[in-house]
Amino acid sequence: MCGIFGYINYLVEKDRKYIIDTLVNGLSRLEYRGYDSAGFAIDGDKKNEVMAFKEVGKVAKLKALVEAEQPDMTKVFDNHCGIAHTRWATHGPPSRVNCHPHRSDPKWEFAVVHNGIITNYKELKALLEAKGFKFETETDTEAIAKLAKYIYDEHPTIEFTNLVKAVIKELQGAFGLLLKSVHFPGEVVAARKGSPLVVGVRTAKKMKVDFVDVEYAEEGVALPAERASQNVALKKNNGLGASLGSNLLAPPDKSLLHRSQSRAFLSDDGVPQPTEFFLSSDPSAIIEHTKKVLYLEDDDIAHIHEGQLNIHRLSKTDGTSNVRAIQTIEIELQEIMKGRFDHFMQKEIFEQPESIVNAMRGRLNVEEKTVTLGGLRQYISTIRRCRRLIFIACGTSFHSCMAVRGAFEELTDIPISVELASDFLDRQAPVFRDDTCVFVSQSGETADSLMALRYCLERGALTVGIVNTVGSSISLMTHCGVHINAGPEIGVASTKAYTSQFVCMIMFALSLAEDRASKTQRRLEIMEGLGKVSQQFQEILKMDQSIKELCLKFKDQKSMLLLGRGAQHATALEGALKIKEISYLHCEAVMSGELKHGVLALVDESLPIVMILTRDDIFAKSLNAYQQVIARKGRPIVICNTGDEEFPGEKTDKIEVPRAVDVLQGLLNVIPLQLMAYWLAVAEGVNVDFPRNLAKSVTVE
Ligand code: F6R
Repeated sequence: MCGIFGYINYLVEKDRKYIIDTLVNGLSRLEYRGYDSAGFAIDGDKKNEVMAFKEVGKVAKLKALVEAEQPDMTKVFDNHCGIAHTRWATHGPPSRVNCHPHRSDPKWEFAVVHNGIITNYKELKALLEAKGFKFETETDTEAIAKLAKYIYDEHPTIEFTNLVKAVIKELQGAFGLLLKSVHFPGEVVAARKGSPLVVGVRTAKKMKVDFVDVEYAEEGVALPAERASQNVALKKNNGLGASLGSNLLAPPDKSLLHRSQSRAFLSDDGVPQPTEFFLSSDPSAIIEHTKKVLYLEDDDIAHIHEGQLNIHRLSKTDGTSNVRAIQTIEIELQEIMKGRFDHFMQKEIFEQPESIVNAMRGRLNVEEKTVTLGGLRQYISTIRRCRRLIFIACGTSFHSCMAVRGAFEELTDIPISVELASDFLDRQAPVFRDDTCVFVSQSGETADSLMALRYCLERGALTVGIVNTVGSSISLMTHCGVHINAGPEIGVASTKAYTSQFVCMIMFALSLAEDRASKTQRRLEIMEGLGKVSQQFQEILKMDQSIKELCLKFKDQKSMLLLGRGAQHATALEGALKIKEISYLHCEAVMSGELKHGVLALVDESLPIVMILTRDDIFAKSLNAYQQVIARKGRPIVICNTGDEEFPGEKTDKIEVPRAVDVLQGLLNVIPLQLMAYWLAVAEGVNVDFPRNLAKSVTVE
């Protein structure tokens, strides 16, 4: 749950100021992934020296620290590696010492930045301590740096890539890693397993390379021949092999004995040209430098040296391609900047009229009354025949699944269940080969969802991803899926991803129902409704200032209720989560049918209550809850359809939203709640884009 960034250049003359600015700027773009401390390691003034800077707090504080320490910013390098990290603490509290990069020893022989969790770090630490290593932090990452040094000391002629292979063979858990070393100046090795890593490439002349070959160690990884015998001895002597034995005792592997074939970024005359590489957890930190990127896959190990990029794997895994394409990414820098807005969350709320159009573009044709989801085309008839559709997600993404559950049931007649990924795994819920499991995730990297995906894959289910982040783990691991095309979502509180997920899942349900004559009219009604949503969003967003004023009523309150029924219960859950996470006001979502079963005891003239009372088939029942609240002197704010006379203005504070087809009404109703959460947070003085204790991408269990 952190962001990592790396910069490596070759034959490019850059001063230290440029290098530091590049690293710090990269970290600022990744701050949404964690922001309790930040740091970086770069080459020092002398050969074989590393300079590291670390600071608790946000990246701006790290920048101030560098300015205060005044390193020589004019020193020029034509071959340089820097690695950087912004942290969201998992092991050990935020502090300078726990902040990355971590080191093998006081001379920084090996420096590492890491995103993810090493689950066997305690065992590694105990073994390395027994070998005399002194640990200085409470992190799991430090074990990686020290393990690298341990293996290097035992095998001083080892190549950097082979060393990293030997290290990661011992790691359990999830990681995205960058390593640099004074023993391998000008080289960086990156590795991923369960945490995303993207490589950006910028060359001085036009790039001739459009893919990179992957090299496999056919027999599995092993140390070079001359070391195997030493390691046997090592095992006998100190028992470290109990943990580190698998590779240390493996037979020598010829494929690791030679320097691998490299993919050089050559100019037309075949000569290596000035090249810069940018490594990042997320392409948003790279696009201001280059649009040419390559997504690493799980188990890839990328070695960058002298303008060359080589990708290795420990072993060939079925289904992985033997090339990694260099792609041109489409997002523009301005898409990830705040523009005229004060916060990313506010910008993302206001982007929704456009982002939902992007979700539908090229897929929904209202005139021709067709829905085409290319990523599902080959699988749609299999999904129609499935035994169950299980939606699995966390947080806001879970709420979007809840919001469309009724639409799927109505349109497909397939049994539907909606599961929180963590609970689904805790229960080890039964999954069968004829189930279809749908994984919904903005980031595509949420650890709970990823583990649930692995669980379903192991049981042979068909898996579908509904994901925003292209190249993310969920999008790569599922059999098929839909990208929601919401664009980068930077604000920690998810807004536009929710509405785009909602729209994509409705299109999915429409596709499944395409062969059902009895649903034709209903499908048309929903498709026409989708065609109107963008315009309706714009109308609702005009209420921004009046919602801001309404929020003043909640100033200094400690708790509030949000009531909805049917599909609007999902809207209430999502609204309550938004309010809690960014304004820190306790807000409970209640299914209004349940009010009389207990929660009504809380209602009095002072408790703030918001009730979602837009028209649908169960409106009369929702109205009962309203009457119950009024009878207890409650004064709810009502979200209702424009002009609904049931709620005369002089008696009730109301937020009027246009009427939509019932299964789409939740899309409109959530927008005032997003605005309400935003303005409540601003009134409380909360840093809206960086609420305390949270991070954008939750890559830990
Ligand atoms: C809340 C929020 C989180 C995420 C959850 C799942 O605003 O953003 O609840 O929805 O952590 O994340 P993804 O969708 O990336 O799997």
